[in-house]
Amino acid sequence: MQITDRVNSISESVTLKLNSKAVALSEQGRHIFNLTAGQLPYRPLSDFSDLISSELDFLKSYQYSPVPGFPALREKFIKNVEKTRDINFEANGVDVDCVVTNGGKHAIANVLGTLINPGDEVVLLAPYWVSYPAIIKFCHGTPVPVQSNIFDVYTPSIDDIRAAITPKTKVIIVNSPNNPSGVHYSDEWMNEFGELMKEFPEIGIISDEIYYQLYYFDPKPTFFYQRHPELLKRTVIVDGISKTLASTGLRIGYMIGPKNVCQAASKLQGQTTSGANSLIQRALINFDFDKTDDYLEPIKIHLRENSRVIVETLKEYKLSTAWYQCTSAFYFLLDFTHTPCIERYRKDKDDQTDYAAEICEEILDELGIAIVPGGDFGAPNTARISLVSPKEQFTEAIGKLCEFLAR
Ligand SMILES: Cc1ncc(COP(=O)(O)O)c(C=O)c1O
Repeated sequence: MQITDRVNSISESVTLKLNSKAVALSEQGRHIFNLTAGQLPYRPLSDFSDLISSELDFLKSYQYSPVPGFPALREKFIKNVEKTRDINFEANGVDVDCVVTNGGKHAIANVLGTLINPGDEVVLLAPYWVSYPAIIKFCHGTPVPVQSNIFDVYTPSIDDIRAAITPKTKVIIVNSPNNPSGVHYSDEWMNEFGELMKEFPEIGIISDEIYYQLYYFDPKPTFFYQRHPELLKRTVIVDGISKTLASTGLRIGYMIGPKNVCQAASKLQGQTTSGANSLIQRALINFDFDKTDDYLEPIKIHLRENSRVIVETLKEYKLSTAWYQCTSAFYFLLDFTHTPCIERYRKDKDDQTDYAAEICEEILDELGIAIVPGGDFGAPNTARISLVSPKEQFTEAIGKLCEFLAR
């Protein structure tokens, strides 16, 4: 059977490719430091797993949920977002709704599938999450990346975003806290971004806030719509339980936005995946989200400590152009551009080729450390390091890695 151009155009996940090589090496008996994880290695709160157990006795937990999710849970997600982001949809004239989805990724696919016509452009702020361009292309849209680099602490400039907007721009995706940079954009940036968006009333905004609670350095993340609530009318907020409840496998996310967008997304969901997991939705209806902060506290301490390990080790090896302070999510984006190791690859000093995949492969073969090349995140010659490993192993791996970079 012939595979469609649509699916053929999707590139395979680099993370998975590297992971499988790391697994193969470890099966051959090699000790591998796997720093590719996109999930927390912790059990979720026992209050939450107890609620899941108690819902096991009910027939409804095994039956279809309403397509957009159980009304009580949708209401609860909306109230929780209003409370934690300090906003009020009704007061700002937004007829708001929520669709519970099979994870945050599915929420993004639903929104893009609902809003993107063939030929529409979607502005992405690089570095961006790998799945955005793949989903946009699947919808026959065009991703338009806006670059940034380590010297801007991976925050694209407002002028560059303005320059990327054309009459074809349909949507802009903002992901703060960010995967893969592990930073959240400043309040000042959010304010200016909001001002910019007011100049373009036709553009919709997706705010991917899946790492919202996972910041380990103040100030806490803020959003453009807090300073400019009139933008809520054309913003879709995406969040879920994957990261903050350490529950990536339970597949529950959600989108909150204008009712007409949610209703259309729900229609799409109804003919593709149906409603999300009933058992988990029912458990979440009774879960007290206020408990998440306490649950995350020790996790944040761990992430903060590992972020310090990276920064201090890079400084120790005098790799001053490779460090910045990451503050949120659980990643650090390592920039090879100004480190001695890249010189072994470059053909001459003007060579701008992206060598990250080769460098990461050499790092895996030689040091047994798995990290993810940044090309697919729109960040050539970088690699994403996950901060979630135990501190001792992490410190050992980062020491070896920095020695390699400085060589
Ligand atoms: C930025 C970003 N958005 C969305 C998601 C999707 O999360 P989920 O596992 O809930 O689909 C991820 C997962 O890694 C992510 O990093």
